[in-house]
Amino acid sequence: MGFSPLAGVRGAGGRTAYRELGLSRVDILSRMPSPHDVLAPAVSAAIAAAFGEDYRGADPVLRPSQFADLQANAALPLAKRLGMPPRQVAERVVAELDVAGVCDAVEISGPGFVNLTLSNAWIAGAVEGMARDGRLGVPLQVQQVIPIDYSAPNVAKEMHVGHLRTTVVGDALARTLEHLGHLVIRQNHIGDWGTPFGMLVEHFLEVGEGSQEARLAETDPNAFYAAAREKFDQSPEFAERARARVVALQAGDPETLHWWETLLAASKRYFNRIYTTLGVTLTDADLAGESTYNAELAGICAELEARGLAVVSDGALCVFLDEFTGREGKPVPLIIRKSDGGYGYATTDLATIRYRVSQLGADRVLYVVGAPQALHFQMVWATARLAGWLPDDVEVVHVQIGNVLGSDKKILRTREGVALKLMALLEEGITKARDYVDTARPDLPEQVRAEIARQVGIGAIKYADLSVAHDSAYVFDLDRMLALTGDTGPYMQYAAARVRSIFRSAGVDPGVGSAGGTGGGTVADSGADSAGGTVADSGVVPRSVVITEPAERALALHLIAFGSVVAQVGDALEPHRLCGYLYELAALFSSFYESCPVLKAEGPVRESRLALAALTLGVLEQGLALLGVETPQEM
Ligand code: ARG
Repeated sequence: MGFSPLAGVRGAGGRTAYRELGLSRVDILSRMPSPHDVLAPAVSAAIAAAFGEDYRGADPVLRPSQFADLQANAALPLAKRLGMPPRQVAERVVAELDVAGVCDAVEISGPGFVNLTLSNAWIAGAVEGMARDGRLGVPLQVQQVIPIDYSAPNVAKEMHVGHLRTTVVGDALARTLEHLGHLVIRQNHIGDWGTPFGMLVEHFLEVGEGSQEARLAETDPNAFYAAAREKFDQSPEFAERARARVVALQAGDPETLHWWETLLAASKRYFNRIYTTLGVTLTDADLAGESTYNAELAGICAELEARGLAVVSDGALCVFLDEFTGREGKPVPLIIRKSDGGYGYATTDLATIRYRVSQLGADRVLYVVGAPQALHFQMVWATARLAGWLPDDVEVVHVQIGNVLGSDKKILRTREGVALKLMALLEEGITKARDYVDTARPDLPEQVRAEIARQVGIGAIKYADLSVAHDSAYVFDLDRMLALTGDTGPYMQYAAARVRSIFRSAGVDPGVGSAGGTGGGTVADSGADSAGGTVADSGVVPRSVVITEPAERALALHLIAFGSVVAQVGDALEPHRLCGYLYELAALFSSFYESCPVLKAEGPVRESRLALAALTLGVLEQGLALLGVETPQEM
């Protein structure tokens, strides 16, 4: 089976590139044909052959089946149209159906379902095709420009577990969409502006750069903030200076700006330490904080006011939108300039959407932000659409992030009574993983154990976050996250390490993870143009597949679905689907390994089983890499 990636068509300019080609965003440049892709046209052709050309466009209604691999349910709707009993319709379709080389059983059941059972040879061929493909069957989609707004912590404040979640989910989406061929533009919209900065800068200045208290901005942001706040509340004289400082900051006073930047730099060091520990892809180049848009805010307000879209109400400049009403049907305003002349969160977000569309050329804009901000985004986007800053063909999505709860089922803010520090939480995860590694693998050198503990501890936290739907709440429980059984990061990492160890015992190169299999990067991040690096080019890598046992068949069928699952994640923006897929893969591999000896098998059977194992390893590692979870070589 062959399929040819049209890698040359991949445009550079996103938006225009695919539109000029007359393609829609769901079009793809290359894809490994799935059973559905192969069978749908075959059933359609049979329908046309049986009932004439008028029926060619009829939906074959292919669905997963309990009794076979797929079932075609077209006979039921067709029966009405034809005025014929559905069973008879099914019989006539089956008589015309040519699935030679694809299915080895076609059966009619019930009122007229056509059960289709794929032949083992076809499945084996599909697996071999996947093994040859440098992308493991993941489609290369027509490139879109996709800005992703994620993480977005606030300067001089501790990152909380909510920020942990947007960071982890946003990063997984960024990696996945990039791998699907899109131009992802990370936008870290940090909170670096607003009235508190008068107080914060004044405090920073007063304690002096380099002092113990100033260092807190970097090591314990909440303590820094609290100290500034206390002075503000206690000393009217300080409060006065803080207010003057806001005015100076907004007026662009160079000295004030200098201190604001110094404070910002301290915060960035703090964010970057968290990002490095977490292994997320965000860098300083991705920062596009609230302050970035300062120069545009007045113009945004002026334009909306001049066009009659915003009106002054109680001194504030507001946009009233018909579709947003509060209690008693009263319209809720989107305040874009407060009565004191200041701008807020709504105005900066109007600026973000305008910038992302007009300057970045976005096709699709993602905001990975807490669920409570849903109304805010709805109102901002509705305003932007009215203003013409957000054309209908640009899709905006709020990827809603649910709450992270403590064991008391309340939003997690403290641990044992003290305010939660994210870094401490991450370190605790690593320490707990270290205890496990030290017990399980005392044979490994100290440095290797430390590295595995980091990968497992962080992987556990990230996987726990990603494996639940991003908009539902979950309880933060390190012990559960670190469990070696169940749908956890360590279980998935262990599954991969176990497959790797089979190859070590066999003395065979699995041909995956040429980069060492670790690192947060994707394993096969190359485009379709470079098939090397994965299961492709080493002579020792087993590649020919024969399928006889049910466990081999089940594993193989699941493996070939990898590409469509990754595509679904990019479409629905739901990383938990990939977790679910990988978890099932690990389970299917376990059953396979229990019932089908690999190393003790001989000849083509051994070769085939090794090929299935190599692909399983490749998919586990690539899948976890797309989630941003590293895989240790051994555990
Ligand atoms: N800094 C905000 C917070 O901590 C999140 C910003 C999200 N992005 C945006 N464009 N509004 O809640």
